[in-house]
Amino acid sequence: MSVVTSAAGVRMPGILYGTAWKKGDTERLVRTAVAQGFRGIDTACQPRHYDEAGVGAGLAACLSPTLTRADLYLQTKFTPVSGHDPARIPYDPDAPLAEQIAESCAVSLRNLETDYLDCLILHSPLGTEQQTLRAWQALESLVDARRVRQLGLSNCYRLGELETLCRAARIKPAVLQNRFYADTDYDRGIRAFCAQERIVYQSFWTLSANPQVLGHAVIQSLASRYARTPAQILFRYLTQSGVVPLTGTRSEAHMREDLEIFGFALAESDRRAVDRVLGA
Ligand SMILES: NC(=O)c1ccc[n+]([C@@H]2O[C@H](COP(=O)([O-])OP(=O)(O)OC[C@H]3O[C@@H](n4cnc5c(N)ncnc54)[C@H](OP(=O)(O)O)[C@@H]3O)[C@@H](O)[C@H]2O)c1
Repeated sequence: MSVVTSAAGVRMPGILYGTAWKKGDTERLVRTAVAQGFRGIDTACQPRHYDEAGVGAGLAACLSPTLTRADLYLQTKFTPVSGHDPARIPYDPDAPLAEQIAESCAVSLRNLETDYLDCLILHSPLGTEQQTLRAWQALESLVDARRVRQLGLSNCYRLGELETLCRAARIKPAVLQNRFYADTDYDRGIRAFCAQERIVYQSFWTLSANPQVLGHAVIQSLASRYARTPAQILFRYLTQSGVVPLTGTRSEAHMREDLEIFGFALAESDRRAVDRVLGA
């Protein structure tokens, strides 16, 4: 497994297992993913889409003298009120924002059966830049309190918004987790900024939003030349381009294929050929 070290000095596996939408299968799938070799897990304190306690139970079942908490990279999210099912908000929605964030983090630590998070992500910017900054300051205090090792932001598709946060933040974002798709030109400008600022860019919707890429003649021909699947070619291209992809596969065979991407490397000319498929 290749590892990426963030600007905050946190080691993160080169591909992460995502736990959204798994409901009652979460615990089992997390156990399977760890057994297959995943060491990085993405979740969220957002019961609408994630069973965070199921993630914690799955991980607890995997720990042993040879696989300790320190061997895992655990990342979760604070979801603002607007992102929740109103009937299942895991904190008091009427409390001040800083208290919502502290409470959500406490719930995550309890759910994940741990005393620290490797990364806590703000699930989306808030309504105004001032509100986002207020949320960020509350997240920073959790780093100060050693509950969280590093911070991230998600669903931020406006470069200016990310730049403003980076300028104003005392603790800079270490991670940006975004949808990877053609509608945003694959976040090209944002990814260049992330590279410059040493922010790790994580992709989701990588396969599901890109059937036209997976079916493209160039990708198909690389898949046959490297004897890999189109999904493996796209994931490997991303990891060789500074991106940490998320995969939420339910299939053991796909889990193995996703981890096996580190068993081969695209030649630089082939990596650039994929760049061109994505319109670079
Ligand atoms: N920050 C956010 O707002 C946000 C939003 C969405 C997702 N996420 C995170 O990203 C994770 C991944 O979600 P996603 O939306 O990218 O999609 P995903 O849940 O990973 O779904 C990928 C789809 O592609 C299929 N697939 C085919 N070949 C595959 C292969 N080799 N490897 C993996 N999948 C393959 C999967 O089917 P099989 O199951 O049959 O393999 C599945 O239907 C989530 O679990 C969550 O942690 C975050």
